Amino acid sequence: MFVYSECSVSRLLKIHSCIFNVNMYVVANRQEKAMSDLEVDKNLSNASGIIRQAAENPAKRPDMRSFFDPATFTVSHVVRDPSSKACAIIDSVLDFDPASGRTMNTSSRALIDYAKSESLEVQWLLETHAHADHLSAAPLLQAELGGQLAIGREIIRVQEVFGKIFNAGTEFQRDGSQFDQLFQDGDRFKIGNLEATVLHVPGHTPACLAYVIGDAVFPGDTLFMPDYGTARCDFPGGDARTLYRSIRRLTQLPDEARMFMCHDYKAPGRDDYAWETTVGAQRNGNIHAREGVTEDEFVKMRNERDATLAMPKLILPSVQVNMRGGKLPPAEDNGVQYLKIPVNML
Ligand SMILES: [Fe+2]
Repeated sequence: MFVYSECSVSRLLKIHSCIFNVNMYVVANRQEKAMSDLEVDKNLSNASGIIRQAAENPAKRPDMRSFFDPATFTVSHVVRDPSSKACAIIDSVLDFDPASGRTMNTSSRALIDYAKSESLEVQWLLETHAHADHLSAAPLLQAELGGQLAIGREIIRVQEVFGKIFNAGTEFQRDGSQFDQLFQDGDRFKIGNLEATVLHVPGHTPACLAYVIGDAVFPGDTLFMPDYGTARCDFPGGDARTLYRSIRRLTQLPDEARMFMCHDYKAPGRDDYAWETTVGAQRNGNIHAREGVTEDEFVKMRNERDATLAMPKLILPSVQVNMRGGKLPPAEDNGVQYLKIPVNML
């Protein structure tokens, strides 16, 4: 089975161990503090409150339309306020052929056509994290549909690490300024009349966010479908122990909350792609992280599995573009935009 989202970057980690160890230490410390405050986790309580309020009021529950990209196994979600034309688009895809270096907009065109045909008002373009398996189409969507582009505030740390790896010049600002909004844990926002909040769920990457919108939760790559498990943790700044704690936090949300995945790869024995489940189904049945799996058991499983996985096909173009908010690097003096391949780094 093709499992590009979980491939190994162990060599990269060794080369950059100093940077990453510092990052992991910071992530672990911050997360440990968050976990010690679990009993007074106000941000999680607020998120649960939004879900419960939506469970009692259909007007607070988003209408969903999801688009699956078979080339990258990515699901982009259009999250609609049922009582207005307002919507958000989560995790869009810019098609990219690495052999020719050509971008295509088939996937983003489907999103744009849908939004236009429904006369939607796109208020937000939400990224759950800087993806390593596909390029974001956020700039294309923003040009045609508008909306504020948002990601987690920790994207700054991702920009620092990958800015070094790609030897990006001073033109590349490591301050998140490529995005309109940098969210942090507990931030709240609205999509029309829908209530929404943000939970910082590091582990897969340091900047991962889960969005809670009405009764719907978007965990990014923190969780896959219950029968497929969880995402790899060996990217720069990733950490299995931190991911476990983020998952434990998410699975304290109300069981009835709908959960929409960012990817699906068809678990063994399942013939169809799927991306909708519930918090309860994850808590009770996720094959990697269901209730009862200890932190040490999870960390051992995740680290052993990550060590066997291959490199994502599009990691180099994806990260180079996504750290820039989905924009390609600036054109060189001949007017051509180039993507770099660091040799013998990964
Ligand atoms: Fe990812």
